[in-house]
Amino acid sequence: MLIHGVGAAGGSMGAEVVIEGLTKSFGRQTIWRDVTLTLPPGEVSVMLGPSGTGKSVFLKSMIGLLKPDRGSCMINGVDIVRCSEHKLYETRKLFGVLFQDGALFGSMNLYDNVAFPLREHTKKSETEIRRIVLEKLEMTGLAGAEKKLPGEISGGMRKRAGLARALVLDPEIILVDEPDSGLDPVRTTYISQLFIDVNAQIDATFLIVTHNINLARTVPDNLGMLFRKELVMFGPREVLLTSEEPVVKQFLGGRMDGPIGMSEEKDTAQMAAERAMFEAGHHAGGVEDVTGIPAQMQPTPGVPTRQGAIRRKDRVMKILHTLPPAAQEGIIESLSPEEQRHYGVTPRRAVHTGSRHAAAQTMPLPTHHQGQLSDEEIARMPQSGWPSRTETTDRFRGPGAGEA
Ligand SMILES: Nc1ncnc2c1ncn2[C@@H]1O[C@H](COP(=O)(O)OP(=O)(O)OP(=O)(O)O)[C@@H](O)[C@H]1O
Ligand SMILES: [Mg+2]
Repeated sequence: MLIHGVGAAGGSMGAEVVIEGLTKSFGRQTIWRDVTLTLPPGEVSVMLGPSGTGKSVFLKSMIGLLKPDRGSCMINGVDIVRCSEHKLYETRKLFGVLFQDGALFGSMNLYDNVAFPLREHTKKSETEIRRIVLEKLEMTGLAGAEKKLPGEISGGMRKRAGLARALVLDPEIILVDEPDSGLDPVRTTYISQLFIDVNAQIDATFLIVTHNINLARTVPDNLGMLFRKELVMFGPREVLLTSEEPVVKQFLGGRMDGPIGMSEEKDTAQMAAERAMFEAGHHAGGVEDVTGIPAQMQPTPGVPTRQGAIRRKDRVMKILHTLPPAAQEGIIESLSPEEQRHYGVTPRRAVHTGSRHAAAQTMPLPTHHQGQLSDEEIARMPQSGWPSRTETTDRFRGPGAGEA
């Protein structure tokens, strides 16, 4: 999708979101506990998790619509969990939120829907509002559709209108809940491209919640997964994409073979029975050869370079030595020869297409691959410190995860 009428990325970069020890229950039902992660500024992160693991609850907690029981969610020095109503109101203006169905007002046309936050939260003139609304509608490929009612357009257009509305207050953080629900695979890819392009243009921090494996594998800089009331993992995409953790592997392959069951998690007996069935030849479904690290989606030609991607490269190279070997190898292979020289790294194997054998890599990298960050600095990064190859089936816990 071509983007018109938008200048090069400039101005401020997105806000960092530092979440520590976040726990949420409804009555006696714990939804998730001790969630600790950092969304790096201006990077795109995706949170995966089976239905009902509390992904939507997580997004609502981040904007203060729900109150977690414990822990903190810091944005620009404000803890969303504990701040005053006034601070919460102010901090919420930093967010653009795209709910599952676009959450448009059915009786308002697209123009008024997109103009709504500006009329509600700013004192801008109608002339100024018109300029902004038309710019965002154009940016999301909806120029000319401003008079349409939400009921008159397709689900894909409604999502784009929801995104246009999420963008009008120049958000520093964009939260997206299930952008692919109700969309065909092609439209899902188009909206993914739109996220990448918007990220390149405004350098906002993104968190996208989804079940969509293709989106998860190709869009974000960082991936996380909620399961069994905990954050199983959160880190650079290469870590989850090469992970041997059974639940992560099962989810990213979309297979029946693994700890996730039809309605809830499986018990040991059920897992063993199913294992025998799959070993006897029953197809576990999913996509057999979805392994390794596919190329990440890039901004459309003509759209500015993603500043978040540039910062991420430096950040990930600093924590490289803390990552599992397969992820390290994937990251090194994704660098251009110039970048490999710049960071002083070389791939261990001859460069080949795809990284499906990367998981077999067990040798530690030479010390010159290692960064110099202190533990404190690393603790600010998403989950640093990774289990060794032999521990990967145990639940993962990074340093700092137990602090809060
Ligand atoms: N306001 C609420 N009061 C009580 N329970 C709630 C509330 N909101 C959500 N829940 C419960 O929290 C759990 C997680 O719900 P949530 O909608 O966050 O799941 P999800 O991961 O987004 O699922 P899906 O992928 O199906 O959208 C569910 O068991 C749900 O019933
Ligand atoms: Mg949900």
